[in-house]
Amino acid sequence: APTTEFAARLLAWYDRHGRFDLPWQHPRTPYRVWLSEIMLQQTQVAVVIPYFQRFVTALPDLPALAHAPQDQVLALWSGLGYYARARNLHATAQHCMTHHGGALPRDLAALQALPGIGRSTAGAILSQAWNEPVPILDGNVKRVLCRVFGIEGWPGTPAVEKQLWALAERLLPQTRPADWTQAQMDFGATLCTRARPACPRCPLQDMCVAYRSNRIATLPTPRPS
Ligand code: ADE
Ligand code: SF4
Repeated sequence: APTTEFAARLLAWYDRHGRFDLPWQHPRTPYRVWLSEIMLQQTQVAVVIPYFQRFVTALPDLPALAHAPQDQVLALWSGLGYYARARNLHATAQHCMTHHGGALPRDLAALQALPGIGRSTAGAILSQAWNEPVPILDGNVKRVLCRVFGIEGWPGTPAVEKQLWALAERLLPQTRPADWTQAQMDFGATLCTRARPACPRCPLQDMCVAYRSNRIATLPTPRPS
């Protein structure tokens, strides 16, 4: 079936071309995964890495973050931008001390209820921190799914987004949940990029609707202007 084929090929690609050396993968604790996902929401991997290292050196776990003065948290964030992320992070750490026994909750609904954590970030945390099979749907994944499966309509539309979540659920493999999340992110970030996808060396070429119908420039459908 094309759904199992999609995961099998992406994971095989990831084994050869994916990133296994990211600092939040070693060690891959829930705190470090969470922090990295918040930093990566609006910032590129290469920019995040030194900020991440500095942050976890100063504040190595969730209780340390919860007890830190806000000045210190904002200083560690300084340069990354979108400072609401840092304030949410700090508030969430304090909330977890009071309501979740000093750790992040291992639960989709509880994670999504925390400030700064939407459904995709919650899925990224559950899959990477605990190897739970939970889908993600960030901008990279949306673009890849729209292209491979020929999904039309601007992905910001609720109906299209709903369709994409259903597809992401269906594509979820039974194995390697953490690798599955990272594989999709790496594939969208490095191969099936927005402006210049590397179709000639893509393992999904023969099953990609956008490639086969010559619609790479128009899938995903651009935001209506
Ligand atoms: N963007 C969001 N999460 C990411 C991750 N784990 N790796 C690379 N890019 C990301
Ligand atoms: Fe993306 Fe091109 Fe591969 Fe299709 S063939 S998934 S557009 S890189």
